[in-house]
Amino acid sequence: MSDLFSDQQTLKQVVAPGITLLKRYASTTELMPLIQQIKTQSPLRHMGTSMGHNMRVSSTNCGNLGGYSDDLGYRYLKNDPLTQQAWPSMPSAFKHLAINAAMEAGILNFNPDSCLINHYPIGISMGSHQDKEERDFSWPIVSVSMGLSAVFQIFGKTRSGVELEILLEDGDVLILAGPARLYYHGVKPVKADLMQPNLTDRYNMTFRQAR
Ligand code: SIN
Ligand code: FE2
Repeated sequence: MSDLFSDQQTLKQVVAPGITLLKRYASTTELMPLIQQIKTQSPLRHMGTSMGHNMRVSSTNCGNLGGYSDDLGYRYLKNDPLTQQAWPSMPSAFKHLAINAAMEAGILNFNPDSCLINHYPIGISMGSHQDKEERDFSWPIVSVSMGLSAVFQIFGKTRSGVELEILLEDGDVLILAGPARLYYHGVKPVKADLMQPNLTDRYNMTFRQAR
């Protein structure tokens, strides 16, 4: 039995079919130093898009495969094109977090091989897109938010027309699965927090089973 009055308790919300939110699920004080380490091996960089733009977020990866995008489009690569080395390995704390979060959403045997790390300074957003380059869409996307809050937008089956907005705070984990797995989604510009003026960044990790 979980203690109803414990601040450790996870608040699980099934926001819509296939969309599960675990409030304050991840301990970001444990995760952030690991991200700093990954950044020293494979630095954050602004990836390109097939449209010839650069992404507003900067990104890196850990795991056997890294999500990478440039003028050839989005795909999974074994090596970081910047360092020409394998992406940093996925820390076991990351992997366990993703597996346990998937389990909370009712998905057993999730075995993530890829973790994309995105960095959002204040003012930076992410446009509407689908995550659709993975082999098997029966595996979820497990998304962990750190630092400044953001408003996650669900557009649904089409690129535009906001259907749902979800506030993602530090430590929140969002799972997109089943009917929501291929929904278009994006992130509104990250805002400063007047109560925490020293906080200037948001990080997000998305875990996938790409292959
Ligand atoms: C993404 O969809 O790739 C990022 C999600 C987020 O930053 O919350
Ligand atoms: Fe995405």
